[in-house]
Amino acid sequence: MSNVEQTLSIIKPDAVERNLQENIKKIFVENGFNIKIEKKIKISKNEAEEFYKVHQSKPFYNELCSYLSSGPIVVMILEKDNAILENRKLMGATDPLKADEGTIRKKYGISIDKNSVHGSDSVDNAKIEIDFFFKS
Ligand code: CMP
Repeated sequence: MSNVEQTLSIIKPDAVERNLQENIKKIFVENGFNIKIEKKIKISKNEAEEFYKVHQSKPFYNELCSYLSSGPIVVMILEKDNAILENRKLMGATDPLKADEGTIRKKYGISIDKNSVHGSDSVDNAKIEIDFFFKS
């Protein structure tokens, strides 16, 4: 039975800065994701704090929010069967050093902070994150 889902994907500042967005989008499309909508934006530190508020108790929260707001990002809604899990598999482990061969973070990630892509981690968070960037 099909289980078409939507997930939020972000191409982070380190990847946009290196002009990798077309390469990364190609990987998504080649792996069966439909890019429903995308936009290139730059967010404020306050917006990053709101977006990452689930991490507000973490020691890396401040740095994380400064980083996401440090330069342009590309945000996309990706659609596929089991999109949330499939996207997480394709991105690879959070730390690029631990990511498997063939994953986006293994290929392009620089460090745990500059790990090139973000993807929603659950159905509930996908809805929240999609609304955050695309609710009019
Ligand atoms: P992301 O999937 O965007 O979700 C939260 C981000 O926090 C994560 O990717 C990492 O880039 C970043 N981060 C920084 N330090 C850590 C850490 N020690 N553990 C997990 N995530 C971290």
